[in-house]
Amino acid sequence: MMIILGFIGYGSMGSMLIDAFLRSGNIKPGEIIVSSRTKSKLDILKEKWIDIHTADSNSEVAQKAKYVFVCVKPLEVTGVLEEIRDSVSSDTNIISIAGAVKIAYIEKLTGAKVTKLIPSLTSEVMEGISLVCHGKTVSREESDYIEMLLNSISKVKLIREEEFDLATELTSCMPGFIASIFEEMVESAFRHTDSLSRTDIEEMVLRTLYGTSRLFIEKNMGFSEMIDRVATKGGITEEGVKALRKGLPDVFDKMFDNTLFKRKLINEKIEQNQVMK
Ligand SMILES: NC(=O)c1ccc[n+]([C@@H]2O[C@H](COP(=O)([O-])OP(=O)(O)OC[C@H]3O[C@@H](n4cnc5c(N)ncnc54)[C@H](OP(=O)(O)O)[C@@H]3O)[C@@H](O)[C@H]2O)c1
Repeated sequence: MMIILGFIGYGSMGSMLIDAFLRSGNIKPGEIIVSSRTKSKLDILKEKWIDIHTADSNSEVAQKAKYVFVCVKPLEVTGVLEEIRDSVSSDTNIISIAGAVKIAYIEKLTGAKVTKLIPSLTSEVMEGISLVCHGKTVSREESDYIEMLLNSISKVKLIREEEFDLATELTSCMPGFIASIFEEMVESAFRHTDSLSRTDIEEMVLRTLYGTSRLFIEKNMGFSEMIDRVATKGGITEEGVKALRKGLPDVFDKMFDNTLFKRKLINEKIEQNQVMK
């Protein structure tokens, strides 16, 4: 069986992607090769998918796979690229999931074709959005194949490279934001009851969140339609919506100010690191 996909870095995202792609049925274990820094972590992978190939080096992955997913932390990307540059051909397609590392930089360092991808933890349940941008040298056939794979574990959203920062907050970071918003809501509800348990409150909120998401997506409901359907004039919901509309804009402006500023600092650090190399 021919090896098609390669993965460098078997951490949180690398393992999530491999598992989701295999569960989608669009790729077989024997068509995947993986390398990672801590070799013992790959034993678990081998136990789960017997036919999957594990490599002794990152270069072996780059040599054998047509599509090479680089799933290491942004500051580790340059080291990996320098290691594999002599093993990739101009036909290799590197798929980098480090948002801060530019497509042009990877192309220049390796001579390979490059796609930038920001996956989301939600692909663990085959949902959410994968942000994708292909470099100019990626062919139609290659971009179609990559998008087919990603569409089977998420919905692909093609964006321009300069749009990645905010788009990443809205997709990849969003599960963390949603969790922290609803964690606060649960705590507040708990402060307002003498009898309901935290578990009861969590179940009510999360099941309703799940149902509400389905109404948005499956019934194509907009935000204002949803509010109109639930908040009748002069009713209880309207009071809650008023309080949210008063308090939340400042909270969300602060959240995006902070995350985008932090992202700018990280991007600068990575660019400095690349210049120094
Ligand atoms: N977490 C998210 O939700 C998320 C979402 C979108 C994008 N990303 C991006 O995805 C990338 C990976 O993040 P992560 O959360 O998966 O990080 P992680 O859990 O730390 O995984 C990184 C993996 O890469 C391995 N590694 C490090 N250096 C290596 C090298 N030189 N050669 C081979 N393997 C090496 C690490 O090995 P060890 O086991 O030895 O540490 C680890 O298994 C980052 O660029 C991040 O920005 C993350």
